[in-house]
Amino acid sequence: MRKKYVIANFKMNKTDGEVNNYLTTLIPAVVSSKAEVCLAVPSVSIKTAVERVKDTNISIAGQNINVNDFGAFTGEINAEMVRAVGAKAVLVGHSERRNLFKEDDKLVNKKIQKALKSGLVAIFCMGETMFDRKGGNTEKVLLEQILTGLNSIYTNELKNIIIAYEPVWAIGTGVTATNKEIEEAIKNIRKALSQMYDKEIANEVSIIYGGSINENNIKDIIKIKDIDGVLVGGASLVPEKFIKIVNSF
Ligand code: PGA
Repeated sequence: MRKKYVIANFKMNKTDGEVNNYLTTLIPAVVSSKAEVCLAVPSVSIKTAVERVKDTNISIAGQNINVNDFGAFTGEINAEMVRAVGAKAVLVGHSERRNLFKEDDKLVNKKIQKALKSGLVAIFCMGETMFDRKGGNTEKVLLEQILTGLNSIYTNELKNIIIAYEPVWAIGTGVTATNKEIEEAIKNIRKALSQMYDKEIANEVSIIYGGSINENNIKDIIKIKDIDGVLVGGASLVPEKFIKIVNSF
């Protein structure tokens, strides 16, 4: 049985002290959550957050890793470092990384491999742009992102991958994809996974949705057939909103 996940992406928000205060509110409010709760915090706060969530049902993720093992890459951190401070997972392929830092599917694939090798769960973000969608290319783009993003990933490694379907046009825009659009995309992602592996294996992979999720629209989103949770950006910054999202599962 696939689990449900509610993952927060703080992006470049919150100081270490603010992350600490946030957790003081969050921890007691989600103790009986039916979903796995994970927070992708800024890298400088991973350690603080990991210490705070010890013995709770919350886990901590990084937001990015460099693809190299070590060396002269000023300002960067690698998967090993993220794992060593106690993070359980890392976001890979987020559309902001793809757009702002020009990360492509091949680099995303290498980062997924590094994350898995270091014992991190890779939260593999993917999704089409509005240009792709308007051009009728959504299915093709999703297939390409899966085929390249998961190239050389073995079947037994898929248990450490969570796919986050995040249409680029829905991220931070206040526009969520319709339930029908999300259902269709999830179906196509599973189809791509079946093509690459097989149907049974494809059915075991968790696929979550992200893009303008908030404490109100979550009630509709959870009705989607086959959805395994959500990745929340903006609304995760306010603990009360995030708590409502977690507790709607
Ligand atoms: P959003 O961000 O919820 O603010 O749209 C989602 C994400 O970037 O993962």
